[in-house]
Amino acid sequence: MNRAQNAPQAAKSIPNLGLKQRNTFGFDANAELAYEITAPEQIPEVISDIAEQKLAWRVLGGGSNVILPNKLPGATLLMNIAGQEIISSDADASLLAVGGGVNWHELVAWTLENDLPGLENLALIPGTVGAAPIQNIGAYGVEIGDYIDRIEAFDTKDHAFVTLAKEACHFAYRDSYFKQNPQRFIVTKVVFSIPKNWQARIHYADLAKQFAENSNPTAEEIFLAVCKIRTHKLPDPKVIGNAGSFFQNPIVPNEQYETLLKTHADLVSYPDAPGKRKLAAGWLIDQCGFKGQRMGSVGVYENQALVLVNHGGGTAQDILGLAKCIRDKVHDKFGVSLQIEPNIL
Ligand code: EPU
Repeated sequence: MNRAQNAPQAAKSIPNLGLKQRNTFGFDANAELAYEITAPEQIPEVISDIAEQKLAWRVLGGGSNVILPNKLPGATLLMNIAGQEIISSDADASLLAVGGGVNWHELVAWTLENDLPGLENLALIPGTVGAAPIQNIGAYGVEIGDYIDRIEAFDTKDHAFVTLAKEACHFAYRDSYFKQNPQRFIVTKVVFSIPKNWQARIHYADLAKQFAENSNPTAEEIFLAVCKIRTHKLPDPKVIGNAGSFFQNPIVPNEQYETLLKTHADLVSYPDAPGKRKLAAGWLIDQCGFKGQRMGSVGVYENQALVLVNHGGGTAQDILGLAKCIRDKVHDKFGVSLQIEPNIL
């Protein structure tokens, strides 16, 4: 093969692209100018073009954690970088390199087929591999940050490709260095470190219940159980628009938690950092009577109060209006401020 055949083509640009199929809320959004990124090498030129034309811009992965407005002015980068390969393996761990555009759930299924268990608790989370570390996706006691070796990204501030080791990514609950520095990094590749000493993690209440009579489940059994729980609790975006948990679980000082317990003995919470307690936002919202409620085209999901849904025809404005009602009521009743989890573009 000669070099010319190997060199990636420039990113394809598409004017006026409808994004209804590219955001799980199913909002009717339109990108003024979309760029389809299929190779990291295309990014510097796209970013230079954007800077030259002084365009607003943003990156869109699977669109599963965003609230899109009707019109997205300027440039929207669609991340479609494919590819996954095991790049090394020793007695302790395997290193797995994955393109930012790979579908997250398909990757989890692939790791199990290839005898690399570890990510099974994170099955069925919508979105792409490149977006997953930004909010440090987590479920059933596991966070993606636990499995990351390093991340390759384009740094738009220094106009250079960078590699960030796990420690530099500052992973925390639904948080990372990338989220702390919005509009700076474009994740192109994630390198996972999957340890060989696999252990089942089924301590979360929902999973523990599934395995009450089987304390030694396989990774495949956990994968199937997680899929079953999520399918029951969380609406399928193909059927009803949503972005998973709409609010983060708020973390409050122990004193505030103790005070709340005096008036709300059944308050659901989890231990957190020393001196702090994580409250179940779903419970707080449920207690305010929102579960299953509708406000025009949008509403609160009937099986999980933490999930806001678009019944069809809703807009970003509608969902933010409903979110404001919920935040105000929860604040009045419990004195706790809820933070919106998806990115508002
Ligand atoms: N609860 C209610 N009513 C509700 C919802 C929840 O009373 O309508 C109470 C229940 O007692 C339940 C507790 O709140 O035991 C916690 O609910 P759940 O176990 O469903 O988990 P969560 O805190 O709502 C978090 C993550 C999910 C993740 C699950 C499982 C956040 C913001 N959400 O949800 O992540 O899948 O734990 O680990 O941390 C996401 O980020 O999009 C997401 C779905």
